[in-house]
Amino acid sequence: MIIEPRTRGFICLTSHPVGCEQNVLNQIDYIKSNPVANGPKKVLVIGASTGFGLASRITSAYGSNASTIGVFFEKPPTEGRPASPGWYNSAAFEAQAHKDGLYAKSINGDAFSNEIKAQTLKLIQDDLGKIDMVIYSLASPVRTHPDTGERFKSVLKPIGETFTNNTVDFHTGVVKEISIEPCSGDDIDNTIAVMGGEDWKMWIDLLKSADVLSEDFKTVAYSYIGPSLTEAVYRKGTIGRAKDHLEATAFEITDSLKDINGKGYVSVNKALVTQASSAIPVIPLYISLLYKVMKEEGIHEGCIEQIERLFNERLYAEDLQLDEQGRIRVDDWEMRDDIQAKVLELWKEATTETLPNIGDLDGYKTDFFNLFGFNVDGVDYDKDVNEMVAIPGLQ
Ligand code: NAI
Ligand code: NA
Repeated sequence: MIIEPRTRGFICLTSHPVGCEQNVLNQIDYIKSNPVANGPKKVLVIGASTGFGLASRITSAYGSNASTIGVFFEKPPTEGRPASPGWYNSAAFEAQAHKDGLYAKSINGDAFSNEIKAQTLKLIQDDLGKIDMVIYSLASPVRTHPDTGERFKSVLKPIGETFTNNTVDFHTGVVKEISIEPCSGDDIDNTIAVMGGEDWKMWIDLLKSADVLSEDFKTVAYSYIGPSLTEAVYRKGTIGRAKDHLEATAFEITDSLKDINGKGYVSVNKALVTQASSAIPVIPLYISLLYKVMKEEGIHEGCIEQIERLFNERLYAEDLQLDEQGRIRVDDWEMRDDIQAKVLELWKEATTETLPNIGDLDGYKTDFFNLFGFNVDGVDYDKDVNEMVAIPGLQ
């Protein structure tokens, strides 16, 4: 079939298998030319199919020949209806990895559940024995608690006061003011339940108690801080509380792994266009301006460049360069004073009329469509494609 993008609001309902494959192959090429000395060898990636998690899987596999197990929650294709992009990404990654002689298997299901955890543990025991790294890269709006069955929904809201600022609809380029009412009721606790560290700790506890973590084991989860512009809705909002919890969980994990010299870390990453971030108000306008400034300075990175730097210059380097709160920072270039000062200047001038010139709205849009395998260089979109692509290592 011919597959075209069909968008509704901040999501795209279709995805293109060949475009997704090309994205994965581009990331593999990047890592092949930037290998990781002394990198991980046996890796579990939770949230492995898109964004930072996919980049982490590719960096592990192609940076240091790691065997990888990927866990994700993606929609398979049906006749005439494309899969979700993470499905096609995983299919492309595994097909290529198998060709290149790398172990790669996947589990598609709810990572928050006991069933998927047990299935993953069994696969590790059967195939890998012990693992030396777990990447935790889930982004989800909901979580069903595995013990109580309670279903939590996360919200992206400010705490205490209404937040009013500009945002952009990146489809139309219209810049307008929006107001977001403060959270209420159990919003904070629910958001912590979904995006905080409880599930990460559950995974590590299970794997530790089953004795499948090797000496000097490492686990990393991803966090975000961002500028003062987005603080009220992000870092000081409900999602920020969840990130505070996630960051605190890293220390608990390290404490629980003392006997194997294991470590839990949080890496604070750069703002990037992913399915998760395009849904957050104000962030698209910030990212459009940030991309413009960082590209002009020659320091723009995508997910793969971020994770390659995380592995090569932090996790598997001499010095993790932790900040005062014990976090790894690969958002260091985003947060540079000169970069932030420029973004703030542009923010004040940003209108529907000025944004195409002062911001990188095209870059934003391209990245958004690329997430779904569209607008990818070198792909012939007029060519018939088979939507029924299988993931070779799917369990
Ligand atoms: P993403 O939406 O690209 O990836 C989410 C992944 O989680 C996918 O592999 C998806 O299949 C998986 N997933 C979601 N729910 C699941 C479930 N119930 N069971 C199993 N798998 C599930 O998101 P992105 O942006 O890569 O986010 C990953 C982490 O990085 C998040 O913690 C996010 O807060 C963080 N981060 C994101 C930044 C950004 O600008 N996008 C910046 C800094 C940190
Ligand atoms: Na991810």
